[in-house]
Amino acid sequence: MKWRKQASSTLSSLKSLRKDVMDTLASWNICSEDDQFALEVVILELLSNAVKHGNRWQEEKKVKVNMRYLPAARNLILLVCDEGTGPIMVKEAVGMEEEGRGLMVVEALCNKLTVGRGRVWVRKELRNEEKSTNR
Ligand SMILES: Nc1ncnc2c1ncn2[C@@H]1O[C@H](COP(=O)(O)OP(=O)(O)OP(=O)(O)O)[C@@H](O)[C@H]1O
Ligand SMILES: [Mg+2]
Repeated sequence: MKWRKQASSTLSSLKSLRKDVMDTLASWNICSEDDQFALEVVILELLSNAVKHGNRWQEEKKVKVNMRYLPAARNLILLVCDEGTGPIMVKEAVGMEEEGRGLMVVEALCNKLTVGRGRVWVRKELRNEEKSTNR
C-alpha cells in the first residue's frame, strides 16, 4: 500500500495533511491504538520540523509525505521532505533545554530513523497484536 501528498507551509494545510495521514492509516486498518498514537506523535513532529527548520515558515514551500506499508514485515515507511538544504542533526540528550527533543522522541517511537538534507525517513514495525478500541 502506498500513499503520498504534499502541502504548503501553513498551519491550516499542515493540520489537514496530518489528518489525511491519520485517516489513511486508519483506512488501511493496520495499526493498533498504540501504534496509531505513536505515529501521530511522529508525523506531528516531522511535519513541524519540516516547516519550522526546513521551510522556515515560507508558505509557498512544500512539505511532502510519502507513506508505504510492507505487509510481509509489517513495516510502515514514512518519508517527510521539505525544501530545506541544511543538514539535519539528531541532538544528544539535552538536559533542561526547551527544544531539541523532537527527533529523539521520534527515534524512540520507531525502529529506524534516517536523516538527509531536507528529508527524514522512519521505519516502524507495527505490532502483531489485535487492534483494540480501548486505550
Ligand atoms: N526538516 C529539518 N530541516 C532542517 N533541520 C532540521 C529538520 N528537522 C530537524 N532539524 C534540525 O535538527 C534539530 C533537532 O530537531 P528536533 O526536532 O530534535 O528539535 P527541535 O525541533 O529544535 O525542538 P523540539 O522538537 O523539541 O521542539 C533542530 O534543531 C534542527 O536544527
Ligand atoms: Mg522538532
